[in-house]
Amino acid sequence: MKHSKKVVVVGSAGRLGVSLVEALRRDHTVIPLTRGDLDLASPESIEKALGPLDYDSLVIAGALTGVDYCESNELEAFAVNATGPGRISEVSAGKGAHVSYLSTDFVYDGTKRSAYTESDPANPISVYGASKLLGEANVLGSSPKNLVIRVSWLFGRGKSAFPEWIIQKCMAESDVTLPMDKWACPTSCDDLVGALLQLAGGASGEEAAGVCNFCNPEPCSWRDWGQFCIDTAKRAGLPIRCESIRGIPMAEVAAFVAKRPSNSALCIQRFMKLTGKEPPSWQEAVGKHLHQSDLFKGYTSTRTTNV
Ligand SMILES: NC(=O)c1ccc[n+]([C@@H]2O[C@H](COP(=O)([O-])OP(=O)(O)OC[C@H]3O[C@@H](n4cnc5c(N)ncnc54)[C@H](OP(=O)(O)O)[C@@H]3O)[C@@H](O)[C@H]2O)c1
Repeated sequence: MKHSKKVVVVGSAGRLGVSLVEALRRDHTVIPLTRGDLDLASPESIEKALGPLDYDSLVIAGALTGVDYCESNELEAFAVNATGPGRISEVSAGKGAHVSYLSTDFVYDGTKRSAYTESDPANPISVYGASKLLGEANVLGSSPKNLVIRVSWLFGRGKSAFPEWIIQKCMAESDVTLPMDKWACPTSCDDLVGALLQLAGGASGEEAAGVCNFCNPEPCSWRDWGQFCIDTAKRAGLPIRCESIRGIPMAEVAAFVAKRPSNSALCIQRFMKLTGKEPPSWQEAVGKHLHQSDLFKGYTSTRTTNV
C-alpha cells in the first residue's frame, strides 16, 4: 500500500493479525478488531462493528484454524470461515473498500505431484478446507477487485507455532515422530505481511485481485521441517534430547480427526510476477524467526546465517 490508508484488520489478535497490525501501523491508520470487537460467526456483530466505520481496505486474518476442531464443528467452521467473510465483503463493497482474505493450501486435495498453482482445481478433503474455499468464493463474489492469498504452515511472532512446539517437545523427549509423507511450504508471517502490503497496492499502485499463493520456497516434509528446527536449536545451544526425528506415515498419527492433503506445496510464480519479489527460502525465514524468538533468549552460541 503506497499511500496512507485506513485499514481494518479482522482477527487482529491471531498469529498473523499481530504482525500485520504492527507493520501497517508504520504507514497507515489501523483499526484492529479482535473476536470481542467483531464475531465472524455473528452477522449482527459484523454489522455493528463495521457499519459505523469508514475505511479503504480490510484484511480478514481471523478464522477458525483448528483443522481437527473444524471437522467436528462443521456449522461453526462454515459460519466463521465462509459466511462471516462473505458478509464482511458485502458491507465493505458497499463502502467501496478492498478486502483481502487469508486462505489455505488445504483447499487442495494433495494428489498433485508438484506445487499447486492458483488455476489448479481446488478439491478440499476436510471441513476446514471446504469452509475456507467457500469463504474465498464469498469474498471474491462480493467484488472482483478483492484478493485471496493462499498460504501454508504459518509461523511468526504473534503466537507460537510448530517451530516452538517441536523444539520444546525435543527438549523434553528423546523419541519424537513426525509425518514424512506430508509436504508443504512453511510461511513466515513477517514475509507474508510484506507480501500482503505489496499485493494490496504496493508494486503497481493497484490492488492485486483474485487468488494468489504465497509461502517461503521450497516445499519440505513435515519431518524435515521439524528436524531443521531442532538442528537450529541445537546449534544455538538449546538442550535437545531428541537428535533425530523419526519419520512416520501420516496415517499413523492417531490424533488427527481430519484428513490432510499429502502434498499442498504452493507455486508462487504469480506472486513473483505481480511484485517482482522473491521471498527468502523457508530455511532462512525459520532460522531468522527462531533466533529472534523468546525460546532462544539466553542461549549464546554463535548465530549461524548458513541456515
Ligand atoms: N496457521 C497456519 O498454519 C495456517 C495455514 C494456512 C492458512 N492459514 C490461514 O491464515 C490465516 C491466519 O492464521 P493464523 O495462524 O494467524 O490464525 P490464528 O493464530 O488461529 O488466529 C486466528 C484468529 O481468528 C480469531 N477468531 C476465531 N474465531 C473467530 C470469530 N468467530 N470471530 C472473530 N475472530 C475469530 C481468533 O481469535 P481468538 O484469539 O479469540 O481465538 C484468532 O485471533 C487464517 O485465515 C488461516 O486460515 C493459517
